[in-house]
Amino acid sequence: MTSPASSPAPKPQQRPLWRDLLACAQLIGAVQSGASLATALPQAAARGQWDAGQRGAAQALSFTVLRHLGTARAVLAELHPRGVHPPLLRDVLLTALVLLLPDAPLLYAAHTVVNQAVEACKRTPALRHAEGFANALMRRFAAQAKAASPARDASDTIEARWNHPAWWVQALQTAYPGDWERLLAVAQRQPSMTLRVNTRRITRDAYQTALQERGMPSTTPDDAALDQALVLSHAVAVERLPGFDAGWVSVQDAAAQYAAGLLDVHPGQRVLDACAAPGGKTAHLLERCDCDVLALDKDAQRLRRVEDTLQRLGLQARTLAADASTPSAWWDGQGFDRILLDAPCSASGIARRHPDIRWLRRAADIPALAATQTALLDALWPLLQPGGKLLYVTCSVFPQEGVDQAQAFLARHPDAIASPAPGQLLPQEPDPTEQHSGPRAAAHSQDGFFYALFTKAS
Ligand SMILES: C[S@@+](CC[C@H](N)C(=O)[O-])C[C@H]1O[C@@H](n2cnc3c(N)ncnc32)[C@H](O)[C@@H]1O
Repeated sequence: MTSPASSPAPKPQQRPLWRDLLACAQLIGAVQSGASLATALPQAAARGQWDAGQRGAAQALSFTVLRHLGTARAVLAELHPRGVHPPLLRDVLLTALVLLLPDAPLLYAAHTVVNQAVEACKRTPALRHAEGFANALMRRFAAQAKAASPARDASDTIEARWNHPAWWVQALQTAYPGDWERLLAVAQRQPSMTLRVNTRRITRDAYQTALQERGMPSTTPDDAALDQALVLSHAVAVERLPGFDAGWVSVQDAAAQYAAGLLDVHPGQRVLDACAAPGGKTAHLLERCDCDVLALDKDAQRLRRVEDTLQRLGLQARTLAADASTPSAWWDGQGFDRILLDAPCSASGIARRHPDIRWLRRAADIPALAATQTALLDALWPLLQPGGKLLYVTCSVFPQEGVDQAQAFLARHPDAIASPAPGQLLPQEPDPTEQHSGPRAAAHSQDGFFYALFTKAS
């Protein structure tokens, strides 16, 4: 997945709130119709002719709303069981209701939210007729919300209680009987912004000092394998990062930073990065070692982002838009010493950064994605030299895309030897209310990733 990464929480500002409510409602509507935020955001921005500031505000507000959409839907259904039409009115009300929920970040006074939701209707010809309805509904809920915590009792649906689809919650309960509640709680929190310092350009210590001097404190994760990582105390726009354009640093989650070290690449080796875009791991490999990388992706547009990233960081690889599952169409027959397969997956491990994912995925997607991963593994294994290593990665927490996939691969390929790798890494985020002294974090922030390393028998 690409990264709108760590968007700072929305903040009250000069532009009237009703504009942001309408902008966010368009995004929420698009996601509920099956579009990703990454697609919907530029389209809505172009249609609505938003200014640059409004785009950021709409995105940040939509993140908050999507993290509370299950509860907001339940509240709206309780307040108006017959359903609200048209969809834009429904989505303005859902957005405003989230801002009134007791456990959503308190961003605006309740009376402001109510007035501005009504104003959003007044200013939109297609919603003008619903001004009185919106006013009555919002006031009713604001009064209830003040008195109690609505839609949070034993009669709640799973979706209302956990703000994830029921099938997702049940899948986590089955896979992680002792940990599923924590995983769902982590998905509700704003993740930290983690950086990867390009140590070809600057040392991590020097970059940490440069950040500190600009008022951006950071910590180093307590894991020697994450030797290029820094975790910012507060998310910032990438343009504010010192030396970003000059290639000193990239934004990359800590769990994603294990890949390059695990692959154990040596200078001059031939490396295939089979699903490379947008290029985070390709760049990391090259920052660590002068190797000969072929970066493949079947999406030519996304592949251009690999090229841009490599150029910014001053690195080089061959890039090719091709389907990794059909090597006969592009492979020159020379074996690779290393293969990185960062396979397409549910992205359930990074859903905390992309709160639209939980509402876009369907239960049936998981076996379909697992079948794609199996096909990619089997197609690429013959391309590896004897003694070579293949690293299989997904940013998923579902076992079908992780441990089950790895075990089935070993059973199908007697010449594959399992080598030490982290296996399933689960999302975690340090509690901001816990105080740590000094520059080292206790438990570092990370997304959910799965890693399996296979060595080919010589
Ligand atoms: C998880 S992302 C890769 C992220 C990337 N490795 C990074 O670290 O920035 C998966 C990528 O696989 C690509 N992809 C999916 N199916 C593919 C296939 N059959 N052949 C090549 N690329 C594929 C997608 O276009 C997507 O860019």
